[in-house]
Amino acid sequence: MPTTDNETPDVSELTPPSRTLMGPGPSNTNPRVLRAMSTPLVGHLDPSFVEIMNDVQELLRYTFRTDNEWTIPVSGTGSAAMEAAIGNLVEPGDTMLVPTNGYFGDRMASMARRAGGTVVEVDAPWGEPLETPTVEDALETHDPDVFGFVHAETSTGVLQPNVPELTAVAHEHDALVIADTVTSLGGVELRVDEWDIDVAYAGPQKCLSCPPGASPLTLSDEAMEKVLSREQAPRSWYLDLSLLEGYWGDERAYHHTAPITNVYALREALRLVAEEGIESRWDRHERIAGALKAGVEGMGLEMNAPEEYWLPSLNAVQVPDGIDDSEVCETLLERYDLEIAGGLGDLSGEIFRIGCMGHSARAENVIFVVTALDDVLESLGADVDPGKGVTATRRSLATE
Ligand SMILES: Cc1ncc(COP(=O)(O)O)c(C=O)c1O
Repeated sequence: MPTTDNETPDVSELTPPSRTLMGPGPSNTNPRVLRAMSTPLVGHLDPSFVEIMNDVQELLRYTFRTDNEWTIPVSGTGSAAMEAAIGNLVEPGDTMLVPTNGYFGDRMASMARRAGGTVVEVDAPWGEPLETPTVEDALETHDPDVFGFVHAETSTGVLQPNVPELTAVAHEHDALVIADTVTSLGGVELRVDEWDIDVAYAGPQKCLSCPPGASPLTLSDEAMEKVLSREQAPRSWYLDLSLLEGYWGDERAYHHTAPITNVYALREALRLVAEEGIESRWDRHERIAGALKAGVEGMGLEMNAPEEYWLPSLNAVQVPDGIDDSEVCETLLERYDLEIAGGLGDLSGEIFRIGCMGHSARAENVIFVVTALDDVLESLGADVDPGKGVTATRRSLATE
């Protein structure tokens, strides 16, 4: 029924439930970040906001482990930072090499094509990382201008372990390297400068535990040189980094109205990272996710990724025989207000994806998720060892 001007719209009175978020993101937000979001607005060029922008840039450099001047939060979600990276680096006529080993390589390919680039692929099965010799062969065969890879593949729970090798071979072939660090920034070891990554982008709602809306991006001088010497402007006006430079660079001139509240939130989330210390934070993720891993293995389930490329921030666990993954996820949500997720693409129905990110990566949460998963799987008839999971989790936490 169309509403007329005088009718009250018929909307629900639902208050969103309070969930424990242990899925692929968003993660739970630290209360300090939520409080920062209730800070009154100032103008996006207010002197106090300019100071906050400086803080965010400095804290992002710390978190990315980089001195890159060109380090900013892009207005929008992780995909906006991704499109800013690809849409500015790939010019019409350029070739971009992308991986086939997960969901987000495909997204890189779509964005590169829309930027006017030609896409070529480097293959690895879903659930496995890229091998250096395979990447080297692809670089040799296709001579791409840009090589993109996913450091932490959220769709498969795989960590790309050989990043310095990949950047070295790419640079030998004169390709600039874009790293998707959406699920690694602030949770898993990542060293942009030391590993010679040209461009990295991320999302705030994963290991930074910040609501989505302002997404980290960093570019080396070499990458920025390419962006500033393009023959044609990028196809997106909004994400054109040469224009954004006016706002985030020295000039501080209006480009678009920054999402002020999201920038407040990101600053607070990054201050929490700096207070904890980036390396301690990586250690915490490994320790807490290690206890989760011990728990799921203790109850008789198997991790999907071998130890060498296990991704602590996103744990891919094989679904036991005869069990419907979506029924498990729905029951956990209903019975426990607990979010985990099933698999995507080639791994749909095969894995559970259990996040262990940022503020969600805490001992009480992993004890909870292991206990709840054990209960739900047992009640659905899975072959699990009740109680053994939580014992293994507790022991793992106690030994650290
Ligand atoms: C690896 C990876 N890249 C890119 C994205 C896109 O980020 P967003 O959904 O915030 O746009 C995601 C989101 O889950 C991701 O996991």
